[in-house]
Order: sequence, then C-alpha cells, then structure tokens
Amino acid sequence: MRPSRPAAALSPVLALAGLLGAAMPAAAQDAAAGQALFLAQCAYCHGEGARGDGPRAAVLNPPPADLTRLAAGNGGVFPVRRVIFRIDGRDPLAAHGSPMPVFGEFFEGQEAVVKSESGQPVLTSKPVADILAWLATIQR
Ligand code: HEC
Repeated sequence: MRPSRPAAALSPVLALAGLLGAAMPAAAQDAAAGQALFLAQCAYCHGEGARGDGPRAAVLNPPPADLTRLAAGNGGVFPVRRVIFRIDGRDPLAAHGSPMPVFGEFFEGQEAVVKSESGQPVLTSKPVADILAWLATIQR
C-alpha cells in the first residue's frame, strides 16, 4: 500500500515532510510481512527463530548472529540503524568479507523511513522496515 503522491504544487521540502510523516509511525511497519521475508531470505543462515541456528550456520565462519540478542547486546536498546545498515550493505563490514550477502539491491524500490533509536529518521526500504519490525518483537 503506497502513500498517495503529494500534489505536484508542493515544494520538495513539504513533499519530504509528508513522506516522513506517512512512513514514520510504527504502524506503517508490518511485522508479519517481515517475518515471511525473513523465513524466505534469512532463515537458512540465521534460523527460523533468528537465533543463529539455520541449516547453513555450521559451515559459516564467522557464524550467523543470534538476532534475538541485538537489543541485549546494545544496552537494552534495539540498534535500528546498525541493523538497517547491515542488511542493505551501508555497514562497511557487510561489504568486506562477511559471509552474509548484501541485500541492498534486492530490497530496492519501495522507500520507507524508520525512526532510529536516537530519533533520527533513516531512509530504507519497506521490506527492510518490515523485517526490522519483526526482529524488534523477538528480542529477549
Ligand atoms: C548466507 C548466510 C546469511 C544470510 C542469508 C543472512 N545472513 Fe545475516 N549474517 C550472517 C552472518 C554469518 C553474520 C555474522 C557475521 C557478520 O556480522 O558478518 C550475519 C550478521 C547479521 C547481522 C548483524 C548482527 C549485529 O550484531 O549487528 C544482521 C542484523 C543480520 N545478519 C540480518 C540478516 C537479515 C535480516 C537477513 C535476511 C534479509 C540475513 N541476515 C541473511 C549470515 C547470513
């Protein structure tokens, strides 16, 4: 479901403000869709419950991260920005020698804005925003 296009008469600044306003609320992220994407694209390494125990885990070095411990490993705060950058390849670690593929191109297209843990908006894609929403629900 795409937000309706801003009227052509709006200035780019107003259009951007509209985009931020439309995409920012957590309700715009669909955790169920994110889980489905995760099962299709990520679970064979990270495991269906994202605990780093997928079928491929045994042959990966370093092993896939336990994605249910991301908040615990970050002082109790889910590291929104780091996870986004890790998935789309903006994190330099992703581009250099990690066994995890870079998903940036795969998820290109439908832009979405997510509020990071510091309150700053981070531009990403709808699929990544949905995966993020699901991952946030399974932290332990
Ligand atoms: C081919 C196996 C593989 C696939 C597929 C894969 N990952 Fe990973 N992932 C890894 C490995 C291995 C690591 C740990 C090593 C590293 O950080 O490079 C990792 C690390 C991560 C991290 C970093 C965790 C941290 O502490 O910052 C995140 C987030 C992540 N993966 C999310 C995902 C998501 C979401 C998907 C699906 C869109 C996915 N991964 C698909 C192998 C994979």
